[in-house]
Amino acid sequence: MSPTATTTTVEPAAKEKAAKPDLRFKRLDITMKRNQYAPDALIEVLHVAQEAFGFLEEDVLQYVAHGLKLPLSKVYGVATFYHLFSLKPSGAHSCVVCMGTACYVKGGDKVMAKLQEELGIEVGETTPDGKVSLMSARCIGACGIAPAVVFDGTVSGKLSPEEAVAKVKVWEGE
Ligand code: FES
Repeated sequence: MSPTATTTTVEPAAKEKAAKPDLRFKRLDITMKRNQYAPDALIEVLHVAQEAFGFLEEDVLQYVAHGLKLPLSKVYGVATFYHLFSLKPSGAHSCVVCMGTACYVKGGDKVMAKLQEELGIEVGETTPDGKVSLMSARCIGACGIAPAVVFDGTVSGKLSPEEAVAKVKVWEGE
């Protein structure tokens, strides 16, 4: 990692209020509030979640269920029914490259291309050995440190393609 690279730990939803806020959850809050927390806003909220996180992890689904006052089973049901939603990827590690505008213009596309080349997989796929899943997201709320990538829930910013590859190489060697 270069001296300019930045790393930020993303707090789980439950700790979000107590520690540094994760702006991705803020986007969910804004969407739910705009819909007056109506249960029928579920699909729209899941869309925003998928865009913000790259995939739908259990703590995100719980957060949405709580916000819309829906049973978790209902949220799971919708998230698994529509193929446009993807649940937590199957790889042991996850790598989510932000392809939002700020990250894209700062080279997020090159980071993504290099990771795809290195891992030999496309977005949404997991390496054949099951070690790494590669996903994309649209603005993870870290535009100030673009281009940003989330490695196993930890946001890293100002990454060159080579630095991003170095991070997944560590996993490949495990
Ligand atoms: S566009 Fe990537 S963090 Fe906002």
